[in-house]
Amino acid sequence: MNSKPELIYEGKAKKIFAHEDSDKVVIEFKDDATAFNSLKKAKFEGKGELNCVISSKIFQHLIEYNIPTHYLGLKNKNSIIAKKISIIPLEVVLRNIAYGSLCKQTSIKPGTVLEKPLIDFYLKNDSLNDPLLTKDRIYLLNLISYEDLTLISNLTLKINELLKNFFLNIKLKLVDFKLEFGYTSEGQIVLGDEISPDNCRLWDLNQKNDTIVSLDKDRFRNDLGGLIEAYSEINKRINNFIRFN
Ligand code: TMP
Ligand code: ASP
Repeated sequence: MNSKPELIYEGKAKKIFAHEDSDKVVIEFKDDATAFNSLKKAKFEGKGELNCVISSKIFQHLIEYNIPTHYLGLKNKNSIIAKKISIIPLEVVLRNIAYGSLCKQTSIKPGTVLEKPLIDFYLKNDSLNDPLLTKDRIYLLNLISYEDLTLISNLTLKINELLKNFFLNIKLKLVDFKLEFGYTSEGQIVLGDEISPDNCRLWDLNQKNDTIVSLDKDRFRNDLGGLIEAYSEINKRINNFIRFN
C-alpha cells in the first residue's frame, strides 16, 4: 500500500505529515513567506528547498556539539524526518544586536551591540499576534516550569555561541534568531522547528564600511528584493565551508 501520508498540521512555512513510525514526522518546507503575522504574504520558488538544506546542515552542526534536537535526517530536497514532539507554545528570541521589534518598542538604536545576549519570550499564538511575555506571565499561564524554562534559556545561550561562530566562519553576523522547543514522547526537551534565514537575522560581513546588507527574511519584510539570491548565497557559503573543513 502506498497511500498519501496524513497531513497532521499546516503552518505558515511548513507542513507536518505522519510517518510510518508514530514517534517520527515528516516536515515539508513550503515556498510561502509571511511577515508581520501574515499581513504580508508571498511565494518564493525554491525557498522551501533552500531553507530545508540550510536548516539541515545547521541542525547537524548543533547535534555534533551535543545539542538535543528533533532532527533525524533529510528525506528529500524539501523535507526532513524529525522526532515527533509536542511544541512548547513559546517563541524564544535571542538578540545579540538591537534590531527589528526591540528598536520599535524601545529607544535602543538599530545596530547597537548588546552588552550580553537578550532572550525574549513570545506566546506562540497567531490569533493574539504572538505577544511578548514576561516570566511571571509564562508561569501564570502554566506554559512551562521554572526548571524547564531555565533549561531552555541555557540551551538557547549555548546555541547562540555555536551559531555565532558557525556564521562568522562564512562571513555572516548573527544579529538575532527565533527558536522553538518541544517535548519528545520520553519527556526530553529538544530544539524543534528550523534554523534558516527565515528565522535568523544575518548580516553580510563582506561589506565595506558598516553598510548593513541583510541576507535573511528582512529582504521580504522590508521590500529589499533578492530573497532567493540571499538564501542561495548563504547555502553556497555553508557548502564551501563544509567542503574545506
Ligand atoms: P523581531 O525583531 O521581529 O522580534 O524578530 C526577532 C527575530 O525573530 C528575527 O530573527 C526574526 C525572528 N522571528 C521569527 O522567526 N518569527 C516571528 O514570528 C518573529 C516575529 C520573529
Ligand atoms: N513569521 C511571522 C509571520 O508571519 C513574522 C516574521 O517572521 O516576521 O507572520
